[in-house]
Amino acid sequence: MTEPTPTRHPNPAGIQRVAVLTSGGDAPGMNAAIRAVVRTAAFEGLEVMGVRRGFSGLHRGELKLIGPRDMANTIQRGGTILLTARSATWRTPEGRARGAQHLRDNGVDGLIVIGGDGSFHGADLLQKEHGIPVIGVPGTIDNDLYGTDHTIGYFTAVETALDAVDKLRDTGASHERIFVIEVMGRHAGHIALDVAVAGGAEEVFIPEDDKPIEDVIEIVKDSVEKGKMGSIVIVAEGVPGGAQGVGDAIQAGTGLETRVSILGHIQRGGTPVSSDRILASRLGEAAVYALMDGVSGVMVGRHGGDIIHTPLHETWEKRKDVNRDLYRCAKKLSV
Ligand code: F6P
Repeated sequence: MTEPTPTRHPNPAGIQRVAVLTSGGDAPGMNAAIRAVVRTAAFEGLEVMGVRRGFSGLHRGELKLIGPRDMANTIQRGGTILLTARSATWRTPEGRARGAQHLRDNGVDGLIVIGGDGSFHGADLLQKEHGIPVIGVPGTIDNDLYGTDHTIGYFTAVETALDAVDKLRDTGASHERIFVIEVMGRHAGHIALDVAVAGGAEEVFIPEDDKPIEDVIEIVKDSVEKGKMGSIVIVAEGVPGGAQGVGDAIQAGTGLETRVSILGHIQRGGTPVSSDRILASRLGEAAVYALMDGVSGVMVGRHGGDIIHTPLHETWEKRKDVNRDLYRCAKKLSV
Protein backbone atom coordinates (compact mmCIF):
# COMPACT_ATOMS: atom_id res chain seq x y z
CA MET A 1 0.00 0.00 0.00
CA THR A 2 1.38 3.42 -0.86
CA GLU A 3 0.98 6.18 1.67
CA PRO A 4 -1.58 8.79 0.51
CA THR A 5 0.08 12.15 -0.17
CA PRO A 6 -1.74 15.06 1.49
CA THR A 7 -3.02 17.52 -1.08
CA ARG A 8 -4.19 21.09 -0.64
CA HIS A 9 -7.92 21.53 0.01
CA PRO A 10 -9.85 23.84 -2.35
CA ASN A 11 -10.72 27.20 -0.81
CA PRO A 12 -13.76 28.53 -2.66
CA ALA A 13 -14.70 30.68 0.36
CA GLY A 14 -11.34 32.47 0.10
CA ILE A 15 -10.59 32.01 3.81
CA GLN A 16 -7.26 33.55 4.84
CA ARG A 17 -7.45 33.83 8.59
CA VAL A 18 -9.49 31.82 11.13
CA ALA A 19 -9.89 32.18 14.87
CA VAL A 20 -10.27 29.34 17.36
CA LEU A 21 -11.49 29.28 20.95
CA THR A 22 -12.43 26.77 23.64
CA SER A 23 -15.50 27.44 25.72
CA GLY A 24 -17.51 25.95 28.61
CA GLY A 25 -16.15 23.04 30.63
CA ASP A 26 -12.68 21.95 29.52
CA ALA A 27 -12.34 18.42 28.14
CA PRO A 28 -9.27 16.23 27.58
CA GLY A 29 -8.42 16.40 23.89
CA MET A 30 -9.28 20.08 23.43
CA ASN A 31 -5.57 20.80 22.93
CA ALA A 32 -5.36 18.12 20.26
CA ALA A 33 -8.27 19.83 18.50
CA ILE A 34 -6.62 23.28 18.69
CA ARG A 35 -3.42 21.75 17.36
CA ALA A 36 -5.29 20.14 14.47
CA VAL A 37 -6.92 23.47 13.57
CA VAL A 38 -3.61 25.36 13.68
CA ARG A 39 -1.60 22.77 11.77
CA THR A 40 -4.27 22.10 9.14
CA ALA A 41 -4.51 25.85 8.59
CA ALA A 42 -0.72 26.12 8.31
CA PHE A 43 -0.65 23.27 5.78
CA GLU A 44 -3.27 25.13 3.73
CA GLY A 45 -1.44 28.46 3.98
CA LEU A 46 -3.95 30.10 6.34
CA GLU A 47 -3.34 32.06 9.54
CA VAL A 48 -4.89 31.29 12.92
CA MET A 49 -5.72 33.60 15.81
CA GLY A 50 -6.11 31.93 19.18
CA VAL A 51 -8.75 33.52 21.41
CA ARG A 52 -8.03 33.21 25.13
CA ARG A 53 -10.76 32.53 27.73
CA GLY A 54 -13.51 31.57 25.26
CA PHE A 55 -16.28 34.08 24.53
CA SER A 56 -15.27 36.12 27.60
CA GLY A 57 -11.91 36.76 26.00
CA LEU A 58 -13.46 37.37 22.60
CA HIS A 59 -15.61 40.28 23.71
CA ARG A 60 -12.55 41.74 25.44
CA GLY A 61 -10.41 41.29 22.31
CA GLU A 62 -7.97 38.68 23.67
CA LEU A 63 -6.79 37.43 20.25
CA LYS A 64 -3.28 36.60 19.14
CA LEU A 65 -1.70 34.91 16.12
CA ILE A 66 -0.59 31.33 16.81
CA GLY A 67 1.41 29.06 14.54
CA PRO A 68 2.32 25.38 14.19
CA ARG A 69 5.38 25.63 16.48
CA ASP A 70 3.22 27.01 19.30
CA MET A 71 1.48 23.64 19.23
CA ALA A 72 4.56 21.65 20.22
CA ASN A 73 3.96 19.30 23.17
CA THR A 74 0.25 20.00 23.38
CA ILE A 75 -1.37 16.85 21.95
CA GLN A 76 -0.86 14.92 25.20
CA ARG A 77 -1.91 17.69 27.57
CA GLY A 78 -5.27 17.81 29.33
CA GLY A 79 -7.19 21.05 29.87
CA THR A 80 -6.96 23.79 27.26
CA ILE A 81 -3.96 25.95 26.50
CA LEU A 82 -6.32 28.70 25.28
CA LEU A 83 -8.12 28.71 28.65
CA THR A 84 -11.88 28.57 28.89
CA ALA A 85 -14.79 30.25 30.64
CA ARG A 86 -18.55 30.36 30.90
CA SER A 87 -19.37 33.91 29.84
CA ALA A 88 -22.40 35.85 31.13
CA THR A 89 -21.55 38.87 28.95
CA TRP A 90 -21.75 36.78 25.76
CA ARG A 91 -25.43 36.20 26.56
CA THR A 92 -26.03 39.93 25.92
CA PRO A 93 -26.34 41.38 22.38
CA GLU A 94 -23.80 44.07 23.32
CA GLY A 95 -21.20 41.48 24.33
CA ARG A 96 -21.64 39.58 21.07
CA ALA A 97 -21.43 42.82 19.05
CA ARG A 98 -18.12 43.66 20.72
CA GLY A 99 -16.81 40.17 19.95
CA ALA A 100 -17.89 40.40 16.30
CA GLN A 101 -16.13 43.77 16.00
CA HIS A 102 -12.88 42.31 17.38
CA LEU A 103 -13.06 39.49 14.82
CA ARG A 104 -13.61 42.00 11.98
CA ASP A 105 -10.85 44.33 13.26
CA ASN A 106 -8.43 41.37 13.22
CA GLY A 107 -9.39 40.31 9.68
CA VAL A 108 -10.84 36.97 10.84
CA ASP A 109 -12.89 35.19 8.13
CA GLY A 110 -14.36 32.45 10.33
CA LEU A 111 -14.47 31.24 13.94
CA ILE A 112 -14.05 27.67 15.20
CA VAL A 113 -15.66 27.03 18.59
CA ILE A 114 -14.60 23.95 20.54
CA GLY A 115 -17.14 23.25 23.29
CA GLY A 116 -20.56 21.95 24.21
CA ASP A 117 -24.16 23.04 23.65
CA GLY A 118 -23.90 26.33 25.57
CA SER A 119 -20.90 27.32 23.46
CA PHE A 120 -22.74 26.37 20.27
CA HIS A 121 -25.67 28.59 21.29
CA GLY A 122 -23.21 31.47 21.56
CA ALA A 123 -21.65 30.64 18.20
CA ASP A 124 -25.04 30.33 16.51
CA LEU A 125 -26.08 33.78 17.72
CA LEU A 126 -22.80 35.27 16.50
CA GLN A 127 -23.36 34.02 12.98
CA LYS A 128 -27.07 34.93 12.92
CA GLU A 129 -26.63 38.44 14.31
CA HIS A 130 -23.33 39.39 12.68
CA GLY A 131 -22.91 37.11 9.67
CA ILE A 132 -19.59 35.70 10.92
CA PRO A 133 -19.03 32.13 9.65
CA VAL A 134 -18.79 29.71 12.60
CA ILE A 135 -18.06 26.00 12.94
CA GLY A 136 -18.56 23.98 16.12
CA VAL A 137 -16.26 21.17 17.25
CA PRO A 138 -17.83 18.94 19.95
CA GLY A 139 -15.64 19.19 23.06
CA THR A 140 -17.31 18.03 26.28
CA ILE A 141 -16.93 15.01 28.52
CA ASP A 142 -20.73 14.63 28.63
CA ASN A 143 -21.16 13.15 25.10
CA ASP A 144 -24.58 14.80 25.04
CA LEU A 145 -24.50 16.41 21.58
CA TYR A 146 -26.65 15.16 18.74
CA GLY A 147 -24.71 14.82 15.47
CA THR A 148 -21.63 12.92 16.58
CA ASP A 149 -21.18 9.41 17.96
CA HIS A 150 -18.76 10.75 20.55
CA THR A 151 -17.55 14.10 21.83
CA ILE A 152 -13.92 14.99 22.49
CA GLY A 153 -13.05 14.22 26.13
CA TYR A 154 -15.69 11.57 26.67
CA PHE A 155 -13.40 8.55 26.26
CA THR A 156 -10.87 9.94 28.74
CA ALA A 157 -13.53 10.84 31.30
CA VAL A 158 -14.87 7.28 31.15
CA GLU A 159 -11.36 5.87 31.71
CA THR A 160 -10.75 8.22 34.64
CA ALA A 161 -14.07 7.36 36.29
CA LEU A 162 -13.51 3.67 35.68
CA ASP A 163 -10.11 3.78 37.34
CA ALA A 164 -11.76 5.32 40.42
CA VAL A 165 -14.54 2.71 40.40
CA ASP A 166 -11.99 -0.13 40.30
CA LYS A 167 -10.23 1.37 43.31
CA LEU A 168 -13.47 1.89 45.22
CA ARG A 169 -14.40 -1.73 44.48
CA ASP A 170 -11.22 -2.90 46.24
CA THR A 171 -12.06 -1.10 49.45
CA GLY A 172 -15.81 -1.82 49.12
CA ALA A 173 -15.26 -5.55 48.74
CA SER A 174 -12.80 -5.62 51.65
CA HIS A 175 -15.40 -4.08 53.97
CA GLU A 176 -18.39 -5.78 52.31
CA ARG A 177 -19.95 -2.37 51.81
CA ILE A 178 -22.23 -0.84 49.23
CA PHE A 179 -20.54 1.93 47.23
CA VAL A 180 -22.71 4.48 45.47
CA ILE A 181 -20.57 6.42 43.01
CA GLU A 182 -21.60 9.60 41.23
CA VAL A 183 -20.17 10.40 37.82
CA MET A 184 -20.55 13.58 35.74
CA GLY A 185 -22.60 13.99 32.58
CA ARG A 186 -24.85 16.96 33.36
CA HIS A 187 -28.33 15.85 32.13
CA ALA A 188 -27.09 12.74 30.32
CA GLY A 189 -26.22 9.20 31.40
CA HIS A 190 -23.61 8.28 28.77
CA ILE A 191 -20.61 8.29 31.13
CA ALA A 192 -22.61 6.46 33.82
CA LEU A 193 -23.70 3.68 31.50
CA ASP A 194 -20.24 3.02 30.04
CA VAL A 195 -18.65 3.07 33.47
CA ALA A 196 -21.34 0.75 34.88
CA VAL A 197 -20.78 -1.87 32.19
CA ALA A 198 -16.99 -1.61 32.19
CA GLY A 199 -16.85 -1.49 36.00
CA GLY A 200 -19.20 -4.44 36.50
CA ALA A 201 -21.65 -2.39 38.58
CA GLU A 202 -24.67 -4.03 40.18
CA GLU A 203 -26.89 -1.09 39.22
CA VAL A 204 -26.85 2.17 37.31
CA PHE A 205 -29.09 5.23 37.62
CA ILE A 206 -29.32 7.58 34.65
CA PRO A 207 -31.55 10.61 34.05
CA GLU A 208 -32.94 9.02 30.85
CA ASP A 209 -34.73 6.43 33.00
CA ASP A 210 -36.87 6.86 36.11
CA LYS A 211 -36.18 3.65 37.91
CA PRO A 212 -37.97 3.32 41.31
CA ILE A 213 -35.46 3.27 44.18
CA GLU A 214 -37.38 0.31 45.69
CA ASP A 215 -36.25 -1.87 42.77
CA VAL A 216 -32.64 -1.01 43.46
CA ILE A 217 -32.98 -1.76 47.14
CA GLU A 218 -34.25 -5.22 46.19
CA ILE A 219 -31.39 -5.73 43.73
CA VAL A 220 -28.80 -4.78 46.34
CA LYS A 221 -30.38 -7.06 48.98
CA ASP A 222 -30.52 -9.85 46.43
CA SER A 223 -26.85 -9.45 45.48
CA VAL A 224 -25.83 -9.71 49.14
CA GLU A 225 -27.94 -12.85 49.52
CA LYS A 226 -26.20 -14.31 46.50
CA GLY A 227 -22.92 -13.89 48.34
CA LYS A 228 -21.49 -10.85 46.55
CA MET A 229 -18.73 -9.22 48.58
CA GLY A 230 -20.01 -5.70 48.06
CA SER A 231 -22.02 -3.78 45.52
CA ILE A 232 -21.26 -0.91 43.20
CA VAL A 233 -24.08 1.41 42.18
CA ILE A 234 -23.29 4.08 39.58
CA VAL A 235 -25.38 7.26 39.59
CA ALA A 236 -25.27 9.95 36.92
CA GLU A 237 -25.15 13.45 38.42
CA GLY A 238 -28.35 14.40 36.57
CA VAL A 239 -30.46 11.93 38.58
CA PRO A 240 -32.64 13.84 41.11
CA GLY A 241 -31.06 13.65 44.55
CA GLY A 242 -27.77 12.43 43.03
CA ALA A 243 -25.66 9.72 44.61
CA GLN A 244 -26.32 11.01 48.12
CA GLY A 245 -30.07 10.56 47.69
CA VAL A 246 -29.63 7.07 46.26
CA GLY A 247 -27.08 6.11 48.93
CA ASP A 248 -29.30 7.32 51.80
CA ALA A 249 -32.26 5.38 50.40
CA ILE A 250 -30.21 2.18 49.98
CA GLN A 251 -28.81 2.39 53.50
CA ALA A 252 -32.28 3.02 54.95
CA GLY A 253 -33.90 0.30 52.82
CA THR A 254 -31.30 -2.44 53.28
CA GLY A 255 -29.69 -1.63 56.61
CA LEU A 256 -26.35 -2.31 54.92
CA GLU A 257 -23.31 -0.13 55.40
CA THR A 258 -23.25 2.25 52.44
CA ARG A 259 -20.72 4.86 51.33
CA VAL A 260 -21.16 7.59 48.76
CA SER A 261 -18.36 8.86 46.56
CA ILE A 262 -18.79 11.82 44.20
CA LEU A 263 -16.00 11.77 41.62
CA GLY A 264 -16.49 15.37 40.42
CA HIS A 265 -14.04 17.41 38.37
CA ILE A 266 -11.26 14.82 38.44
CA GLN A 267 -13.15 13.36 35.45
CA ARG A 268 -12.36 16.48 33.39
CA GLY A 269 -8.59 16.35 33.84
CA GLY A 270 -5.68 14.22 32.76
CA THR A 271 -3.90 13.07 29.66
CA PRO A 272 -6.33 12.42 26.81
CA VAL A 273 -6.55 8.79 25.73
CA SER A 274 -5.78 7.93 22.11
CA SER A 275 -9.45 7.82 21.01
CA ASP A 276 -9.92 11.43 22.13
CA ARG A 277 -6.70 12.59 20.46
CA ILE A 278 -7.63 10.90 17.19
CA LEU A 279 -11.20 12.22 17.23
CA ALA A 280 -9.93 15.73 18.03
CA SER A 281 -7.35 15.59 15.26
CA ARG A 282 -9.91 14.59 12.64
CA LEU A 283 -12.54 17.09 13.77
CA GLY A 284 -10.07 19.98 14.02
CA GLU A 285 -9.02 19.31 10.44
CA ALA A 286 -12.66 18.98 9.32
CA ALA A 287 -13.55 22.31 10.93
CA VAL A 288 -10.95 24.18 8.86
CA TYR A 289 -12.09 22.44 5.68
CA ALA A 290 -15.73 23.31 6.42
CA LEU A 291 -14.86 27.02 6.60
CA MET A 292 -12.80 26.80 3.39
CA ASP A 293 -15.78 25.11 1.69
CA GLY A 294 -17.97 28.08 2.64
CA VAL A 295 -19.97 26.10 5.22
CA SER A 296 -21.19 27.87 8.37
CA GLY A 297 -23.47 27.28 11.35
CA VAL A 298 -22.75 23.57 11.68
CA MET A 299 -20.96 21.24 14.05
CA VAL A 300 -18.49 18.79 12.58
CA GLY A 301 -18.99 15.32 14.04
CA ARG A 302 -18.04 11.72 13.40
CA HIS A 303 -20.64 9.08 12.68
CA GLY A 304 -19.23 5.61 12.04
CA GLY A 305 -16.03 6.43 10.22
CA ASP A 306 -17.47 9.46 8.42
CA ILE A 307 -17.22 13.16 9.12
CA ILE A 308 -20.69 14.71 9.11
CA HIS A 309 -22.12 18.23 9.48
CA THR A 310 -25.12 18.98 11.71
CA PRO A 311 -26.79 22.41 12.01
CA LEU A 312 -25.74 23.88 15.35
CA HIS A 313 -29.30 24.24 16.68
CA GLU A 314 -29.98 20.53 16.07
CA THR A 315 -27.06 19.55 18.29
CA TRP A 316 -28.99 20.72 21.34
CA GLU A 317 -32.59 20.48 20.06
CA LYS A 318 -32.40 16.82 19.08
CA ARG A 319 -31.66 14.38 21.87
CA LYS A 320 -28.92 11.80 21.63
CA ASP A 321 -30.24 8.77 23.48
CA VAL A 322 -28.02 6.50 25.55
CA ASN A 323 -27.11 3.15 24.05
CA ARG A 324 -30.16 1.10 25.03
CA ASP A 325 -28.49 -2.20 24.09
CA LEU A 326 -25.74 -1.42 26.51
CA TYR A 327 -28.33 -0.64 29.16
CA ARG A 328 -29.97 -4.04 28.68
CA CYS A 329 -26.55 -5.68 28.72
CA ALA A 330 -25.62 -3.92 32.00
CA LYS A 331 -28.73 -5.35 33.67
CA LYS A 332 -28.07 -8.90 32.45
CA LEU A 333 -24.43 -8.98 33.48
CA SER A 334 -25.10 -7.99 37.06
CA VAL A 335 -27.03 -11.22 37.91
O1 F6P B 1 -20.20 19.85 30.83
C1 F6P B 1 -19.09 19.32 31.49
C2 F6P B 1 -19.34 19.27 32.98
O2 F6P B 1 -18.20 18.73 33.61
C3 F6P B 1 -20.60 18.52 33.42
O3 F6P B 1 -20.41 17.12 33.42
C4 F6P B 1 -20.85 19.12 34.77
O4 F6P B 1 -22.21 19.05 35.10
C5 F6P B 1 -20.41 20.55 34.58
O5 F6P B 1 -19.53 20.57 33.47
C6 F6P B 1 -19.70 21.15 35.78
O6 F6P B 1 -19.48 22.49 35.50
P1 F6P B 1 -18.52 23.45 36.33
O7 F6P B 1 -17.11 23.13 35.96
O8 F6P B 1 -18.92 24.82 35.90
O9 F6P B 1 -18.77 23.16 37.77
